[in-house]
This record gives sequence, C-alpha cells and structure tokens, in this order.
Amino acid sequence: MTTNAELKARQEAAVAKGVAAKAIYAARAENAEIWDVEGRRFIDFAAGIAVTNTGHRHPKVMAAVAEQAQAFTHTCVHVSPYESYIRLAEQLNALTPGDFAKKTIFLSAGAEAVENAIKIARYATGRSGVVAFSGAFHGRTMMTMALTGKVMPYKKGFGPFPAEVFHSTFPNDFHGVSLERALEDLDRLFATDVDPGRVAAFIVEPVQGEGGFNVAPFEFLRALREIADKHGILLISDEIQAGMARTGKMFGIEHAGVVPDLVTSAKGLGGGFPISAVTGRAEVMDAAHPGGLGGTYGGNPMSVAAANAVLGVIRDEDLCARAIEIGERITARLTAIAARQGMEPMGDIRGLGAMQAVEFVTDRASRAPDAGLTAAIVAEAEARGLVLLSCGTRGNVVRLLPPLTIPFEVLDEGLDILEASIEAAISKTAAAA
Ligand SMILES: Cc1ncc(COP(=O)(O)O)c(C=O)c1O
Repeated sequence: MTTNAELKARQEAAVAKGVAAKAIYAARAENAEIWDVEGRRFIDFAAGIAVTNTGHRHPKVMAAVAEQAQAFTHTCVHVSPYESYIRLAEQLNALTPGDFAKKTIFLSAGAEAVENAIKIARYATGRSGVVAFSGAFHGRTMMTMALTGKVMPYKKGFGPFPAEVFHSTFPNDFHGVSLERALEDLDRLFATDVDPGRVAAFIVEPVQGEGGFNVAPFEFLRALREIADKHGILLISDEIQAGMARTGKMFGIEHAGVVPDLVTSAKGLGGGFPISAVTGRAEVMDAAHPGGLGGTYGGNPMSVAAANAVLGVIRDEDLCARAIEIGERITARLTAIAARQGMEPMGDIRGLGAMQAVEFVTDRASRAPDAGLTAAIVAEAEARGLVLLSCGTRGNVVRLLPPLTIPFEVLDEGLDILEASIEAAISKTAAAA
C-alpha cells in the first residue's frame, strides 16, 4: 500500500515547494467524503476550496461529462464552437443579477476570469485604474496578485506588480474598521492617489474568501454602486468563492440587492472541472475587438458539460435553500461551542449561508490573532478525519465550506469532530503555556 508519508517524500523531491499541500493524498471521493491512499475516511469541509458545492462526483455531473467524452473533448471554441458553450452562457446571462442584456466569456481558472474582467473594464471605459480592497484575494497571476490585498503567501517575493492598481480599506467591524471609515478611505484615495475619472473598475468580493470570510456590509456594496455610478466606474463582483449558491443566493452580492456590471464566476461552476466565466452588461462585454478575448482551453467542452449539469443540480436540489440550512446548523453549533469555551479564543463567528468561519484570538479584549491555535485546530481535525481550511490575512480564521449536498448526519459528524478538535487544541495550547 502507498502511504501518505511516501507520497509526501516523493512530492517534496519532485514538486515545487511553492505548491503547499496537506498530507492527505486522495484515493477517491464521493459527495462530502474523501478516502486517502491509506484507506482513511475524511469528512470534507473544504470542498476543494469551494469547488465541489454539488459534492464530489455528483451523478448528474459525471453522466454529463461521460456523455461529452463520447462526442469530443476539445476543439477550441475559436476553431470549432459548440452549442453547449452558448447554452451555458445563456444560463449565466439569465442567472446573474441585472435586468438588462448580458454576455459571457468562459476561461479556465478563477484568476483568468479576473484578468479578463479587468481587460474588459479597461477597454469599455478607456480608463486604466482599478480599485481593490484590503484583505482581498483575486488570484496568483500578475494582475490578480496586484489586486490581492494579502501579502503572505500570495505577494511576497513576486513583484513588481502591474501599475494602476489601488487598494482601499475593506470594512471590518470586529477589528474596529467601520463602514464610515472605509468610505472615508476611498474618498481619501480619490483625493490623494487617483482621480476617479481614471478608474475603470472597483473589484470586490461580497464575502472575502482567503481574506477571512469577511462579509461586505450590504451598505458598503450599495455605497460602492453609488460612487461607481457617480464617476462612471464599473463594479465587478468577484463571485469566484461566494457564488454558485454558496451563500444562500446564486451570487453573494444579491443579498445586498446590488447589481454589478460584471460578475466573475469559477470554482463551484464546474463542480470539480476547471472553468471560469465573466458575465456582464452586453455593451461592456462587447467592447473588445474580436480575437482580443479568449484562450485555447477557455470553455473546454468537458468543463462546459459539467457546468451545465451543475446549474441543473443547483436548481433541482434547491441548493440555495440548502446553503441557508447548512449555515444555520453550523452557526448554532459554533455558538454553542463558543458558549462552552467562554467565548475567549473564538473571537468572532461570521459568514453568509454555507460560507461560515470562526476567527481565533488570544483574548477578546485585544483581539490579537492566534494563528498558532488555528493551525493546531486544523491539525487536530485532520487527525480525527475532518478536512478543514484556515484563511484570514493573519492566518487565524477557520473556514467551513462543506459541499451543499452534504447529508445532515455527515455535517453533524463533521461538527462533532470540529468541536473535539477545538477543545483539544485549546487545552493543549493552555497546557503548553
Ligand atoms: C474570490 C476569488 N477570486 C479569485 C480566485 C482565484 O481563482 P483560481 O485559484 O481558480 O485562479 C479565488 C480563489 O480562491 C477566489 O477565492
């Protein structure tokens, strides 16, 4: 039998160190469970980083991909296009917020969608500036790194980055950054760094993912919409992590009732197959000349088949409603655990729908981040059979991203493990202090 330790050693010898990885080598996965090469079962609270919202190997997604594989696997949409690409575009045009004509382009990775959204926004407005926010994560390519507002591990050592990217403050109640202060900071940016008339777009995550599951206050998103309209700036909602029913709505920004000009999707769209998209106002999407957008693999037929099936599953299984139920179940449990722990290290429990997290702090008075405790909880969970992810600009947030198709008994089992892991990590940390 191959062991995780053997594979870890081979990985260290053969794979670039920059590709950080856990030591749970997958052998197979089904819905919300993963089995490693040693036959150990794990409950999956990561969903491949918010990708398998419809579960691992959803039967309808697998059937659609198998059928497509019998027809053709790649032609390149620029060479010999196919109906399924158009159908998927039609579906996203209808599903994204906004009662106006829309168009879509497909790419492969999330970062590629963000890159294209910026290209499109610049072309359509004839402006160069882009404003992103502190704590944002938009990807690992040059432009998306520039947009990202989290230095470790994403930006350190990789610069210089493309110019014309500006960062403003993302509101964060827990750390005393009010909505008013965030808006003042944007005002300051326009007074001191960049003329708003030079800004093509704001790009914002309705719930920051890697940044720590910080929910954008709805009034903040509404204010951005107003400011954007005032200055002719486009609003891009990066829905790569928060979209595809994860927050209880198809797209996270819908909670605020705000209509963006452009939406980026990826992750959950393909249900485990690589695909991303930019959807937006038809006149904006159509600004660029033919040949200016696209790529060899963008909207690959296998991924498109998966995505068309994923949208059907989200609709048929009412995964938006399920995301709300999952979120309520998680919040109730986290609140009960925090009450037992006296709330001290569990500084903040937050999220939207099935995008929930806990921020761990050394104490609630200082709210100083406790990345050590967070890492210990993730390790304890892994030892007990639960795949967990951390996040946050200070690495002190545990995020819960189970597939939206997870059976409630498996969800509860995972929450039991989480509770035991938090208790074990807290008592070990206290004993070591
Ligand atoms: C909000 C957001 N934007 C962009 C990306 C980049 O996507 P990818 O890793 O597929 O390039 C991510 C990935 O985590 C994300 O969460």
